[in-house]
Amino acid sequence: MARWQLDDIGWERFDAGKLDPGITRIVKAASLVEYNGGAYARHLCLVFADDPEFRASAQRWGEEEIQHGRALARWAALADPGFDFAAAFARFRDSFRVDFECSRSRRGSRTGEMVARCVVETGTSSYYRALADAAAEPVLKEICRRIAADEVRHYKLFRRTLERYRVREGVGFWRRLLVVLRRLAEARDDELACAYYAANEFNGRYDRRRCSRNYARHAFAVYREAHVAGAVKMLFKAAGLCANSRLCRAGERLAWQVMRRRALRLAALGA
Ligand SMILES: [Fe+2]
Ligand SMILES: [Fe+2]
Repeated sequence: MARWQLDDIGWERFDAGKLDPGITRIVKAASLVEYNGGAYARHLCLVFADDPEFRASAQRWGEEEIQHGRALARWAALADPGFDFAAAFARFRDSFRVDFECSRSRRGSRTGEMVARCVVETGTSSYYRALADAAAEPVLKEICRRIAADEVRHYKLFRRTLERYRVREGVGFWRRLLVVLRRLAEARDDELACAYYAANEFNGRYDRRRCSRNYARHAFAVYREAHVAGAVKMLFKAAGLCANSRLCRAGERLAWQVMRRRALRLAALGA
C-alpha cells in the first residue's frame, strides 16, 4: 500500500488563477506514463521471479507509480475539465506498445535492469522536484513534492538491489556505465512523445518529432541548475562513480549547459 492516499492531498486549496497552460499539458502526459507503471512492475516480477523479497517491493513500487498517475490525473481534470483521462490512457496504450510480458531484462542482467531503473527514478525525482518548484498552483506543488519523495525512495530501493546483484552477477563498471548511457539516450524514445500526443494533441496525426519537441519545450522550461546537478549526482552513483568528485562537478556544469541551451532553442521554436 502506498504511503499516502489521494485523500491526504488538500484538493480544496486548488487555485485556478495560478495555472500555467504549458505545465498542465505536461502533467496530463505524466499522468499517463505514471499510470502505466503497473505493466513494468509485472515485468520486474518476471525478471526477478525467484527473489520474493524484491518481487514484493516491485509490486509496492508499481502501486505507488499507479497512484502517482491517479493524483496527477485528478489534478489535470481540475485544471482542464475537458481532460478525459480514461480516453487519453486508452489512446496512449494503443500508440505505445512495449513487450513487458517477458522474463528477460532488456539490459542483459538483473544488475543492468536495476541500473536502468535508477536512471528512470533519477529522471522522475528531479522532474517532480523541478515541477514542484516551478508550479504556482498550490495543489500541484503538494502533489509533486509527495511524488518526488517517493521517486527518491524508489531510486534507493533499486540501488540497494543493484548492489545486492552486482557482485553475484559480476557486472563491472563499464557495463553499468553503458546501461546508464543507453537508458539516457532512450529518454528521446516514443514513450513521452506518445503520452503528450494522447493527452494533448490527439486530434491530428501522431508526429513523433513534433510531439517530442512540444513535450520537451514545456518540460525543459521547469528545470533549474540545482535540479540538474542533483540528477547528475544520482546518475554518477548508479554508474558506480564518485558523486563527490571534480569529474561529477564538471558533469553537472556540462549537463546544465546542454540542457539550458536546448531549453532556449525549444522556447525559440515554440515562440
Ligand atoms: Fe512515479
Ligand atoms: Fe518511481
